[in-house]
Amino acid sequence: MRKVDPWEVFPQVQETLSAGGAFLLSVDEGGRPNPMTIGWGLLGTVWYRNVFLVLVRPSRYSHGLIERGGHFAVCVPRPGELREALEFCGTRSGRELDKVEALGLGVTPGRAGPVPLLAECNLHYECRVVTHTSLSPEDILSPEISSKYYPTGDLHSLFFGEILAAWRQ
Ligand SMILES: Cc1cc2nc3c(=O)[nH]c(=O)nc-3n(C[C@H](O)[C@H](O)[C@H](O)COP(=O)(O)O)c2cc1C
Repeated sequence: MRKVDPWEVFPQVQETLSAGGAFLLSVDEGGRPNPMTIGWGLLGTVWYRNVFLVLVRPSRYSHGLIERGGHFAVCVPRPGELREALEFCGTRSGRELDKVEALGLGVTPGRAGPVPLLAECNLHYECRVVTHTSLSPEDILSPEISSKYYPTGDLHSLFFGEILAAWRQ
């Protein structure tokens, strides 16, 4: 794996996120990875640091894992690849089964953090949570977004992950 500039490779991340998604990985207390599909994410500079912001609903198993573990990784497949795995990880919960094992995915240890990376992906961001905050119904100023995305609540938490390293495989 080769270290890359997180900004330089972000156009591929953006393209992949909007066409099927990428994998958000976190680990349980035993270090077992749980991939969940995400379709949204932001790259930016906060506190003069490179930050990857992910939005995770409290109902996701991943939510508690990230809260407790304080780290996550975003693993990005090449555009158009791993479609079935993205569908599976976006509809099945790590509460029910070990998704990595069920899909026969390869994992490789994280190099900058404790979360393993999916070997089948070609871009990886390793992140440490600096802070997280939750959206409240009164924070959503667009009635359209509110009714479309939050009809039953379960408003996203925003996890600000300082990027420890980004890699291309
Ligand atoms: C394309 C796609 C994008 C998704 N994006 C998100 C997201 O950004 N945030 C979120 O909380 N859930 C998102 N989901 C839903 C989760 O991936 C899904 O609920 C998953 O089963 C949660 O897994 P977990 O319970 O193991 O954490 C998405 C699902 C799909 C199919």
